[in-house]
Amino acid sequence: MKVTKAIIPAAGLGTRFLPATKITPKELLPIFDKPAIQYVVEEGVKSGIDNFVIVSSRNKQTIENHFDIFPELEEKLKSQGKDKLLSAISKIIKSSSFTYVRQNEPLGLGHAIWTARHTVGKEHVAIFLPDDIIDNPVPGMAQLIKVATQEKCNVIAVQEVPKDQVSRYGVIDIRKQFSPNLFQVKELVEKPAVNKAPSNLAIVGRYILSSNIFEALDDLRVGANNEIQLTDGIQNLILNGEKVFAYRMQGTRYDVGNPLGLLKASLNFALKHSESSAAVLKYLYDLDKELLVMQGKMEMFKKQKAVTF
Ligand code: UTP
Repeated sequence: MKVTKAIIPAAGLGTRFLPATKITPKELLPIFDKPAIQYVVEEGVKSGIDNFVIVSSRNKQTIENHFDIFPELEEKLKSQGKDKLLSAISKIIKSSSFTYVRQNEPLGLGHAIWTARHTVGKEHVAIFLPDDIIDNPVPGMAQLIKVATQEKCNVIAVQEVPKDQVSRYGVIDIRKQFSPNLFQVKELVEKPAVNKAPSNLAIVGRYILSSNIFEALDDLRVGANNEIQLTDGIQNLILNGEKVFAYRMQGTRYDVGNPLGLLKASLNFALKHSESSAAVLKYLYDLDKELLVMQGKMEMFKKQKAVTF
């Protein structure tokens, strides 16, 4: 099995990020100095993928422009000896192909994937949710491709989440555990109530699915949150007799679909940035000196609002 094509759904409304996302696509918000969607494309390229299908919508044309050349800017940078600033994205544009499909209505993640059905043949396809950024020396998708190739089946990424947060995620019920990090999935449940969750292994936004997923999504009705859910489509794959494995993905996952998650990811990558890490560290050090004052403020806040952290 060779996985060289990926679908990146990017047609959501991004309401958790309003007003920032009223006009600007959430997927182009910068994590420190680079748009979120470029991180996942780079993860794809490092994992051997060179064919990206981006599910887009009205208001999102700037995503298409980001993955295209910009001759005037490139010439100018070259004449100033600054072409390094665009070298990573230029390399990707040269070596990969980008196709765009439009989701006319944001009916849910499952519907977004189904919209890309005509761009995929009888092959396994990778899916990246650009809200989930994985920081790890071995790219997240490369880990899944290894498992999918060995087991010749569908693989989804999972990670443990605190029990009281399971209702924010799709969660798996395990049929069988093969090794500490590899499971066969019995059932997937989207956003279960805390007392009904079959485990605290939550789906992370990385999948490798057979092209039968499109048929499995064909007649799907709306599920959790009144949206057509990808999770329900994968559940249909299992009901149709396909094997679905879950792999406990190694690495730190940042949910950059909300402001706090984006801030945490930005800090993480800023601290690793060759030119900026020292200045960011100094800023955090100065902030730390104010910690005592901040702790005092926090205690007061807790008392006033009667909350606990
Ligand atoms: P989210 O659940 O984060 O939805 O989608 P959203 O609309 O982007 O954000 P909020 O919840 O309103 O803040 C997960 C991924 O699926 C895509 C999104 O663009 C995001 O990358 N998506 C979601 C679609 O492409 N179409 C949809 O109809 C829904």
